[in-house]
Amino acid sequence: MSREKVSGRSPDGSAPPYDVVVVGSVNADLVVHVDRRPAPGETVLGSDLAVHPGGKGANQAVAAARLGARVALLGRIGSDANGEFLRRALSGDGVELGHLLETPGPSGVALITVGPDGDNSIIVSPGANGRLSEEDVAGAADLLASARVVSLQLESPAAAVLAAARMAARVVFNLSPPAPVPDELLAMCDPLVVNEHEAEFLLGERGTPERQARALLALGPRSVVVTLGADGAVVAERGSVIAVPSPRVDPVDTTGAGDAFTGALAWRLSKGDDLADAAAFAARVGAASVRRPGAQSSYPRMEEVRAL
Ligand code: RIB
Repeated sequence: MSREKVSGRSPDGSAPPYDVVVVGSVNADLVVHVDRRPAPGETVLGSDLAVHPGGKGANQAVAAARLGARVALLGRIGSDANGEFLRRALSGDGVELGHLLETPGPSGVALITVGPDGDNSIIVSPGANGRLSEEDVAGAADLLASARVVSLQLESPAAAVLAAARMAARVVFNLSPPAPVPDELLAMCDPLVVNEHEAEFLLGERGTPERQARALLALGPRSVVVTLGADGAVVAERGSVIAVPSPRVDPVDTTGAGDAFTGALAWRLSKGDDLADAAAFAARVGAASVRRPGAQSSYPRMEEVRAL
């Protein structure tokens, strides 16, 4: 069933040192649970503040590492206390941090409210993430070329994301948060990963997930995954559109579930799984992650995914 083996290489031709290299954001997540969100001009009281390690890039990296992947992260943290907190959290999960660069000033911060159904609203202050540059990517050229899969999102500057994609053997790209991207980047995605809102952003219209997946494929990516939360995902490649289920769970906090999905997907693809199998595994990881609060703090290990 395997359609294509990805082909990362190390500079000396030996086995690739990393399954997945993630290029992306690292944030401190400041989380408050609320019964309802305030209207403009209104104040509501929420829970005690919780501070979790987050950021879409770091989340993908930790999700994959916790499952057993060899992962490196290229990104930027600030010189503040959050930067140290974030570095320690990533290191504790075994993510390789030789290319985690430091910028004078604040680290990225996400202000997150979680509602009673586990749904979240997020405002991101990019901080150091906004300084990730094409030069930073060029400095990690060997690392990027050695990885089987390079996993990307859009909380980092688009120029850096595009530069990283150009160096990758295989690109997994989550268009989150949604923003216009060049056709060149879309054409390199294998797969492009979007939720229904991000799909609507790219397509300019709603549709069933199957229709969205077909229409997205027509925009140029080699393959597409539309994630559907509790309903799993739809996977589209040339000639096939397949629905992938998700285990039923009671959601506590959906923050970072998409990142867990994408990190797990990237790892399974790096191991040679075909896209539908990788997405089915990733849906289980995403489902496991919504059962606990926070993003990285909720990500499962392999035993938990097997038991789901
Ligand atoms: O996708 C969830 C993530 O989005 C959070 O961890 C937060 O940092 C924002 O980047």
